[in-house]
Amino acid sequence: MPGEIARKVAKMATLGENMSEALASSDGAVNLTTQQALEAQPLAPRFYCTDYAAMEHIDIEPVRAEWDLMMRDFELDKNRGHFKQNYEYDPSILESDPELKEEFLDLLVSSITAEYSGCVLYQEIEKNVSNPDISKLMRYMARDESRHAGFINKALNKLGVAVDLGVLKREKEYTFFKPKYIYYATYLSEKIGYARYITIYRHLERHPEKRFHPIFKWFLEWCNDEFAHGEGFALIMRSDPKLLSGFNKLWIRFFLLAVYSTMYVRDHSRPKLYEAFGMDVTEFDYTVFDITTEISRQVFPLTLNTDDPRFRAGLERMRALQVARDALEGQRGPVAMLKKLGYLVGSGLTFARLYLLPTQANTIPDQVRMQPAW
Ligand SMILES: [Fe+2]
Ligand SMILES: [Fe+2]
Repeated sequence: MPGEIARKVAKMATLGENMSEALASSDGAVNLTTQQALEAQPLAPRFYCTDYAAMEHIDIEPVRAEWDLMMRDFELDKNRGHFKQNYEYDPSILESDPELKEEFLDLLVSSITAEYSGCVLYQEIEKNVSNPDISKLMRYMARDESRHAGFINKALNKLGVAVDLGVLKREKEYTFFKPKYIYYATYLSEKIGYARYITIYRHLERHPEKRFHPIFKWFLEWCNDEFAHGEGFALIMRSDPKLLSGFNKLWIRFFLLAVYSTMYVRDHSRPKLYEAFGMDVTEFDYTVFDITTEISRQVFPLTLNTDDPRFRAGLERMRALQVARDALEGQRGPVAMLKKLGYLVGSGLTFARLYLLPTQANTIPDQVRMQPAW
């Protein structure tokens, strides 16, 4: 058994390396913004592929009643017209603040990459899996993600830039994830996406004068779509208890920490954006963690204690190490390389220490589905 544990931990470390790279993540042949979206930057969203054959065997019978209710909602497609609406926008508003414009564009590009990454993954699963339950769910989710990506592209267009989604699909590197990693990671990214959008939306509802771009008015219906996608993965995981017990608990812990720490580091690299919202970025992140943790009780047998001062200090250390690494960007030579390596090792060790902090056990409720009530 110790050999088995060592093997699992080594595999986790390799995946951790992949992730920490992923995490640490309109004109000409490929325009500059498309290029930015194509780059496999640390902390930038990635594109994924998986073992489609293994997904054939998903059996959702244990959660059939809840599944059918969820599918009925997808069929109703309440947000059909939402992303077709147009808005007027004067791009000169952002011209007066180039730093904010840069961070806002960076947010839009990383969001469109994430939306489109979901769209492509769901389309590929639909195309390659004949299991009727799974392929139907994937078709509905791809439909929503393609609307989201298209809507962001419209916003980018109004700002004079565009991401060529066709080029992105063809040329972006794909990372292979086993189906279970797709469930953990995608479930979390859908739910944390919901928590982020709803927190921004509610804040701007209270402070409309801080809404510097109309796209934020679309966030309510938008995040409800993301919430619904997360429900799909929650039901898939709940249909197979093995995914939520034994060794897999270590993976759940890993993905929770990876997703939370990535978000923390990335949000803190956009100070102007949160300043423009009139938000404290750290407070924002911890609100998002609280919401995501509460939602994740529908499926995960454990939660992270994000209020533990050691957890907070660890995230701060991850952030500082990332800032130090970014400062060395473009520098060559042995000294810079050594420093980079040192920071990388430091990040790995900090991640490991965070990983080893005690977690809280959670009893999974009988009923899986939840309503987006925030
Ligand atoms: Fe989306
Ligand atoms: Fe989604």
